[in-house]
Amino acid sequence: MKRREFLQTGAALGALALAPAFNALGKPRDRLRVAMIGTGLRGQSQLGPLLSRGDVELVAIADTQQVMLDHTLAIIDKTGRKRPKVYGGNGDKNAWKALLAQKGIDAVLICTPWEWHAPMAIAAMEAKVAVGCEVVAGITLQDHWDVLRAQQRTGTPYMLMENVCYRRDVMAVLQMVRAGLFGELIHMQAGYQHDLRGVKLNSGNPNEPYDSGVEFGEKGFSEAQWRTQHSVDRNGELYPSHGIGPCAMYANIHRGNRFTHINAFATKSRGLHDYIVKNPKGGPDHPNAKVKFKLGDVVTTTLRCENGETILLQHDTSLPRPYSLGFRVQGTDGLWMDLNKSIHIEGKSPPHKWEDAQKYYDEYDHPLWRKYADKAAGAGHGGMDWFVVHAFVEAVKAGAPMPIDIYDAVAWSAITPLSEQSIAEDYRTLPFPDFTEGKWKDRKPIFAFDDRY
Ligand SMILES: NC(=O)c1ccc[n+]([C@@H]2O[C@H](COP(=O)([O-])OP(=O)(O)OC[C@H]3O[C@@H](n4cnc5c(N)ncnc54)[C@H](O)[C@@H]3O)[C@@H](O)[C@H]2O)c1
Repeated sequence: MKRREFLQTGAALGALALAPAFNALGKPRDRLRVAMIGTGLRGQSQLGPLLSRGDVELVAIADTQQVMLDHTLAIIDKTGRKRPKVYGGNGDKNAWKALLAQKGIDAVLICTPWEWHAPMAIAAMEAKVAVGCEVVAGITLQDHWDVLRAQQRTGTPYMLMENVCYRRDVMAVLQMVRAGLFGELIHMQAGYQHDLRGVKLNSGNPNEPYDSGVEFGEKGFSEAQWRTQHSVDRNGELYPSHGIGPCAMYANIHRGNRFTHINAFATKSRGLHDYIVKNPKGGPDHPNAKVKFKLGDVVTTTLRCENGETILLQHDTSLPRPYSLGFRVQGTDGLWMDLNKSIHIEGKSPPHKWEDAQKYYDEYDHPLWRKYADKAAGAGHGGMDWFVVHAFVEAVKAGAPMPIDIYDAVAWSAITPLSEQSIAEDYRTLPFPDFTEGKWKDRKPIFAFDDRY
């Protein structure tokens, strides 16, 4: 979008964002009664941002495992807040249905393994309980259509809780993009580049969830219980939203732009096997040394957009490497790369030289961060977890459109099954489904246009 168009759209949006568009839950309200399904490590870490709020009452929690419920209740007790009603704890995989039947719940955070997100979100929307769903929206392409149709049928608010969209540098760069600093956008890169070997494999002991062994499945703990099996069974971009979320906001996807094509390539798979064989608690004779992991160590996915940009994503979770999401935002006037905080803007930066991006981060710091940095301090992932909870709670309270809405959720998350299909079909380029069914042409950007959410 050109600077003038952006300014015009921004002005129109200011007005739009102030007017509550719909609220399936009734009138705008001051407080929310919130439930949480899945009280594992993610759910527990989101308790801080939730319970620090005077406008939220945590009224119900559900989990299959007593150990997770106990940890959660201990955290709640420390805050002095009232205990919620508890469901499950005995291995019952359906206890969450009883939670959704509890009267008076306004909103639910879904923090369960991926395979549960679609059925739980659909049931919650049918029950008129606003959904804040952890990344991803579903597993198969059909799941994504089902979640979309349920939202359209019920009108219940649904937000994907994609926290990286709220990272401070990512939001500052959004301001730079919107101000036209990079000129016209041409290309973006990002990914999920995070050494998860010590997360996907552990000892199974709840007191040492990371880097503690080579077990998974029933013998593992937390994500090793379920996430690892996806690396055994699937080959694709298994965790797209941390990378694609910010890029989609930069490119105004579903708001004047859309993904048109996708393809993916995968390398051979070595990292997880190597980790098991070389680990002091594993070795070549450990039973898991025989497991064949289907997931390529580095999966590279390319998307093309209607307005002519490309976006490259890399999923890189099985090899030794420091964490980096590898953002690159490039336009006709320059580019930013998050690694080493580097930026180059033609006419501002010394020719052919990188500059330290910090002074640009400071200058373009997003109004949300300027306003709430103190409140967010201490929340997970450098504070961005506070912002995603804040955005969800405030938008539901106001009856405003979700800042990361159903179309964002299903398109970002559908990258997984589509990348799997591309790889399985000899790296074929596939058309990207238009979940908006043409509405992308007229929809306007709403994400983070003011200092509310
Ligand atoms: N946005 C982020 O930065 C971020 C970070 C970590 C995890 N996550 C996401 O959060 C979700 C949970 O991940 P996690 O790390 O907490 O995993 P986890 O394994 O620690 O927690 C998942 C919990 O869900 C429970 N569960 C499983 N089936 C259930 C069912 N049928 N009913 C009720 N509870 C059930 C498990 O017992 C477990 O306690 C995943 O989608 C993950 O991708 C997001």
